[in-house]
Amino acid sequence: MKVIGGISSQALACRVANSLRCPIPACEFKSFPDGELYVRVVGDIKGEDVVIVQSIVKDRDLICLLQLIEAVEEEAEHISVVIPYLGYARQDKRFKSGEAISARAIARSISIKGVVDDIYVVNLHSRSILRYFEVPAKEIDVSPLIGDYIASKGVEPVIIGPDKGAMELSRSIASSHNFEYDVLEKRRISGEEVEIKPKELSVEGRNVVIVDDIISTGGTISEAASILKAQGAKDIYVACIHGVFAQNSIIRLYSSGIEEIVATDTIESAFSKISIAGEIAKNLLSKGRGL
Ligand code: R5P
Repeated sequence: MKVIGGISSQALACRVANSLRCPIPACEFKSFPDGELYVRVVGDIKGEDVVIVQSIVKDRDLICLLQLIEAVEEEAEHISVVIPYLGYARQDKRFKSGEAISARAIARSISIKGVVDDIYVVNLHSRSILRYFEVPAKEIDVSPLIGDYIASKGVEPVIIGPDKGAMELSRSIASSHNFEYDVLEKRRISGEEVEIKPKELSVEGRNVVIVDDIISTGGTISEAASILKAQGAKDIYVACIHGVFAQNSIIRLYSSGIEEIVATDTIESAFSKISIAGEIAKNLLSKGRGL
């Protein structure tokens, strides 16, 4: 087996290769004068099971992934594609007529039948997106790793999701360490007044970890942090699977009184303190393919 690291997942691909104790062939990435991307896989992959690891954060990352698949398709025996972060996944249905379902467009473009054998994606925004892939696709849930990281800090927290969509994630992060968990709920008190607070738990005097699948602009989390602070929460920490951290999100998050931000390495940043490499390796090995 050989692991190829795309432009956006270099460090994670190396960690996966280390976990699998397999080589990582060299690749060249450069831009032509007009900005187009040039991709070359330099190492030998003839007859190999090839695993391409590449997150789709920016548009160019998809172009890179498609070129990597193309570069290895004639020589590789088997091609697995690991997409730690699948961008464009939040538009997973047609909300208004005429809109593109971006999640389906991206999933279809990678599902090259007869070339790509299987696809692994990490904590999809919605599991229903799996049906858009046209080759076998599996979701890897890395949320227990966040629970482990929180437990290692010894802060005895309550886990809070910022909205009801985060309930499953909160439960999954909390469950293996028996943390209490809840989500924020909006309740209309009167025509003019809306109250937002945890559905069941009180956060007064307690350390809180706000968890979400994606942090992009930081708006969702900073609003949640302000609400929880106002309700007497002690220290507030933030953990997410996919740290997109767009625009001024970091400043926005810290200004809302957050102590620490932590993310996995599905997107590489200074906050990627939790590596999912071991989980990816485990899933690749469970397919029964040797090294
Ligand atoms: C939304 O459904 C997601 O789960 C996240 O809450 C959202 O993507 C976060 O975005 P932002 O950081 O821009 O508020």
